Amino acid sequence: MLKLQSVCSDVAGINVLRNVTGEVHAGSLTAVIGRNGAGKTTLLRTIMGAVEIKHGTIHVDGELINHLKAYERSHIGIGWAPEERVIFPTMSVKENMMFPCQIVGHNKGQVQDRIDMVLDVVPQLKAMLDRSGAALSGGQGKMVALGRALMVGTRIVLLDEPFQGLSPALAREYGESLSNLRNSQPDIAIIVTESNAALLHGIADQTFNIERGEITN
Ligand SMILES: Nc1ncnc2c1ncn2[C@@H]1O[C@H](COP(=O)(O)OP(=O)(O)OP(=O)(O)O)[C@@H](O)[C@H]1O
Ligand SMILES: [Mg+2]
Repeated sequence: MLKLQSVCSDVAGINVLRNVTGEVHAGSLTAVIGRNGAGKTTLLRTIMGAVEIKHGTIHVDGELINHLKAYERSHIGIGWAPEERVIFPTMSVKENMMFPCQIVGHNKGQVQDRIDMVLDVVPQLKAMLDRSGAALSGGQGKMVALGRALMVGTRIVLLDEPFQGLSPALAREYGESLSNLRNSQPDIAIIVTESNAALLHGIADQTFNIERGEITN
């Protein structure tokens, strides 16, 4: 499904990702484990197209996507929940969720179908839909960011340190949502970054350990 071959990319003119090679299969959950500064976010941003690839190739279902801009990658079904959440405070939760669909150009029916699916997977969002994006706790914001990623992430969902800062109760709910997602959308490929390997132990089908921009396993 997603294939990275010798991927290199820079941040602020400095080479961060170094020859990252790996494959992610449909329906699998991949953990990307590394310390602060290891390059986890840069890896996800490179897959999403927010960081330019300098060398190597990225294929999705056999199609080379190196040249696709970030919004075009949303279009082919890659959803992304960034580490810093980025919930728009002047929009409601529902509007925040629908935002990427507008960029991708989904029609009303498609948006409603997707919202229904997301609310099944993340039922906590039902009660939050009309709430302002400014009125969310950090943990609720993580749930909204997951929901928003799922609105366009029909093939691949990239979750950057989703468990960071969640209370134990919310972390359990987030884990339940991931398992709902796998049941509801069995072909979706999920990539989750984390600095603490133990958190994803038992739910990951494969693990990429990343150190100084290189996969070490
Ligand atoms: N805005 C920036 N300017 C300069 N260097 C940066 C910038 N952002 C990241 N870097 C560098 O890029 C490298 C990879 O950072 P990245 O954010 O991908 O790591 P990470 O594994 O996601 O870390 P964290 O666990 O803190 O989120 C780090 O060494 C960092 O110093
Ligand atoms: Mg990061």
